[in-house]
Amino acid sequence: MRLFVAVNLPDEVRAAIWQSTATMRSKEFPIRWVSAESIHLTLKFLGDVDESLESQVIAALESAVLGARGFDLSLAGFGAFPNAHRPRVVWLGCETATALGLVQHRVEEEMNAIGFPFEGRPFRPHLTLGRARREARTTDWRGFDGILRQAAFKGSVAVDTIDLMQSELSRAGARYNRRYEAGLSSL
Ligand code: 2AM
Repeated sequence: MRLFVAVNLPDEVRAAIWQSTATMRSKEFPIRWVSAESIHLTLKFLGDVDESLESQVIAALESAVLGARGFDLSLAGFGAFPNAHRPRVVWLGCETATALGLVQHRVEEEMNAIGFPFEGRPFRPHLTLGRARREARTTDWRGFDGILRQAAFKGSVAVDTIDLMQSELSRAGARYNRRYEAGLSSL
């Protein structure tokens, strides 16, 4: 099973984020948009994990959140990796809250302790909103930079669980389902 650790958002926040990209989506750039219900913040991608190891992963996740408090996460600012002229991923940014960085680091440590390699790259928290189509050409992105800068969204969510997610891939795209919620302590 393909697993990852993520922060999920309330339905109404995901719907509002989806709304905020309406103009961008109407322009028909070569982007596969992530559906509203699939928008999430990945803390750690685990990849293919044998089903027999799921309980170990859950135990590691519980250790990672032990003593961690819930926190508010601010969402704002659209961007693209690696850049807006030739994007691969279009995202909504998250304020790099200390609490989020701490819990992400704890997840890295605990997952590393059970054999998952450390992520070599620095953590850049983001909600992936869309991915460039493989066939996209450089000229397809003319004007995208401006559109991205015009889009606006500001929101804040109370994060009280860190979730173990399963990604099921199909022709229609990835479907995510929550396998486990690790609770943070009360604010
Ligand atoms: P992304 O949103 O930045 O694309 C489920 O696939 C989640 O795991 C996605 O949110 C994805 O991040 C993240 N992820 C990180 N590394 C990945 C990888 N090598 N393959 C697929 N997904 C990955």
